[in-house]
Amino acid sequence: AKIQEHEFVIQATPVKRLCNTHSTITVNGQFPGPTLEVNNGDTLVVKVTNKARYNVTIHWHGIRQMRTGWADGPEFVTQCPIRPGESYTYRFTIQGQEGTLWWHAHSSWLRATVYGALIIHPREGEAYPFTKPKRETPILLGEWWDANPIDVVRQATQTGAAPNTSDAYTINGQPGDLYKCSSQGTTIVPIDSGETNLLRVINAALNQPLFFTVANHKLTVVGADASYLKPFTTNVIMLGPGQTTDVLIQGDQPPTRYYMAARAYQSAQNAPFDNTTTTAILEYKSAPCPTKGSSIKPVMPSLPAYNDTNTVTAFSKSFRSPRKVEVPAEIDDNLFFTIGLGLNNCPKNFNANQCQGPNGTRFTASMNNVSFVLPNNVSILQAHHLGVQGVFTTDFPTQPPVKFDYTGNVSRSLWQPVQGTKVTKLKFGSRVQIVLQDTSIVTPENHPIHLHGYDFYIVAEGFGNFDPNKDTSKFNLVDPPMRNTVAVPVNGWAVIRFVADNPGAWIMHCHLDVHIGWGLATVLLVDNGVGLLQSIEPPPEDLPLC
Ligand code: C2O
Repeated sequence: AKIQEHEFVIQATPVKRLCNTHSTITVNGQFPGPTLEVNNGDTLVVKVTNKARYNVTIHWHGIRQMRTGWADGPEFVTQCPIRPGESYTYRFTIQGQEGTLWWHAHSSWLRATVYGALIIHPREGEAYPFTKPKRETPILLGEWWDANPIDVVRQATQTGAAPNTSDAYTINGQPGDLYKCSSQGTTIVPIDSGETNLLRVINAALNQPLFFTVANHKLTVVGADASYLKPFTTNVIMLGPGQTTDVLIQGDQPPTRYYMAARAYQSAQNAPFDNTTTTAILEYKSAPCPTKGSSIKPVMPSLPAYNDTNTVTAFSKSFRSPRKVEVPAEIDDNLFFTIGLGLNNCPKNFNANQCQGPNGTRFTASMNNVSFVLPNNVSILQAHHLGVQGVFTTDFPTQPPVKFDYTGNVSRSLWQPVQGTKVTKLKFGSRVQIVLQDTSIVTPENHPIHLHGYDFYIVAEGFGNFDPNKDTSKFNLVDPPMRNTVAVPVNGWAVIRFVADNPGAWIMHCHLDVHIGWGLATVLLVDNGVGLLQSIEPPPEDLPLC
């Protein structure tokens, strides 16, 4: 195993998209940021220097961070932000994970442009559990605003309204041929007849689950979130923000040019969304060169309708681990979290333009009716480690405060969550089950729920209200898929299981960034009870303080 050192400089860089140039926050001037490639077992050391005018942190999405929670990155959870002019070095070891992950800023909406792929190859000398592809290509799906994304979210926070939707989706930072002023930069993905290309697809979009497909080519799914899967073949995949999916495509079609394309899977009702399509070109190396003016149009694929939940369900039901896995059979901590939106009344002293949500309210979101508020002068992990009182409370409800018809007509009295920095304490080693239940408050929606510091098994998914008496019989405790982000079905539920074997403070949140801002998050505090320092490494000396 190697130690790999990198430097990330966070800086403002002019980036031109959709006919306009914006001063864009990037890493090392690159958008998307650099791809990191490591082998399982390697140690990554990344020195992040902030030369931008915003506070920033970097999160290594999906990396387990076994006992290295100080390197996880979410601001005010495991560290204070890196202030302009300052640096922090993230240091962690890849332990047992293989496949595609990614890294991104974990501060306000900076991850709109501060993100990149993190590819984990098998250990030196070890092979994939599938035939080695001739090529590998990261496919980063993103969202672009023809504006400064930080201004977009600031305005929404100040007014209580929903933020503007994006102006384009992107593949590897490029909107592609269907957008104005964009065909110059369209991403080209090579393939050749008889070859296999492994596409490492990452949904880095801020707020939008996306369908992805390639014209005329079958997709063989072999992994997701850096865990292998029993291979299956499909025409289209869906990724919630945060999720990754590895697919093999074969060069078995006439050698010409084909579009790969992504566009919205929109499950929320009556909510505005960006209804455009991003494309890249899959180009056979032996394809005749398109001579100027004679443009050979690539073949366009068809994509599901924006609200095609049936396709999403069929796709996620195909997920299996490659073999029998060890799912905790007995459960020590059985938690039930509702996830959903809400509308809070505005305080009396607010002026009218601070309450521009529906009927003079502000949008909000919650788990178990608690809208999560980040601390602002110390991180939760630091506060826990140093015993600082008054930063958080450990009374996050492990069950909904009242039972209600979650997916039915919910009474208005349940639309206003309470605010708090409430965490759930879990004993080290505990076998945990969490039922994630969507609610129809404001609108039901497919929420991508991401847990830091862990992979978990998704043992079941379904629609309606989870019923412990009849739904438990549907649990797959044999070969369920392992992931770090679960797309909880709209108007439905998902059940995850894991062993709390990694001490630290781990945020669990909806990966739609608009929902994090509204409070759709909580923190699981895992401690072995003998003091954190005996269970995790000491904080690095350069850990940013507030
Ligand atoms: Cu990929 Cu907390 O995020």
